[in-house]
Amino acid sequence: MATPDTVPQPAKPARPKPPTRPGGRRRFLERCLGALSAAGFLGALYPITRYLEPPPEAEGASRVEIAASDIPFGGSKTVIYRGRPAIVVNGPNGFIAFNAVCTHLGCVVKWVETGQEFFCPCHGGKFDQKGQVTGGPPPQPLVAISVAQSGEKVILGG
Ligand code: FES
Repeated sequence: MATPDTVPQPAKPARPKPPTRPGGRRRFLERCLGALSAAGFLGALYPITRYLEPPPEAEGASRVEIAASDIPFGGSKTVIYRGRPAIVVNGPNGFIAFNAVCTHLGCVVKWVETGQEFFCPCHGGKFDQKGQVTGGPPPQPLVAISVAQSGEKVILGG
C-alpha cells in the first residue's frame, strides 16, 4: 500500500505570470526620476527668484543711518529703506542714493564700481550716477533718495 509520501502527485500547473505592460517598471522609474529632477529644479529656482525680486512693499524705516566709513570711495552699500532695497554710492560728487528696484521689471540693480554705473542683471539695464537710463530696456530713471551727511553718518531720508 502506498503511503501519502510515495503516491505520485499530479504536477502543479505552472502559475501564470501576471500580465505586465511592456516597460511598466522602466516607465515608473523614469517618472520617479523626472519628479525628483523637477523638485530639485524648483528647489534651486526659489532662492534665485528671492535674490532677484525685491521684498514686497512694506512700511520700513524712513530714515536710515550708515557709517560713512562703511562705504569706501567709489564703492556702494545696499540697505533697506522704506521696505525696499536702496543703494548708496560714495561717488566723486559725494554720497548718492537710489531706490535699487529697476524700473523695467523690478529686479535689484547693482553698482558697478569699475564702470561707475548701476547695472540690472536681469535684462542688462544700465543707469548713470544720476539714475538716468543709459542702456537696456528700463523705461524710467531710478528713483532718487535724499542723502545727507552729518559727521561720520550718512543719512537716507528723514
Ligand atoms: S528688470 Fe532691470 S532691465 Fe529688466
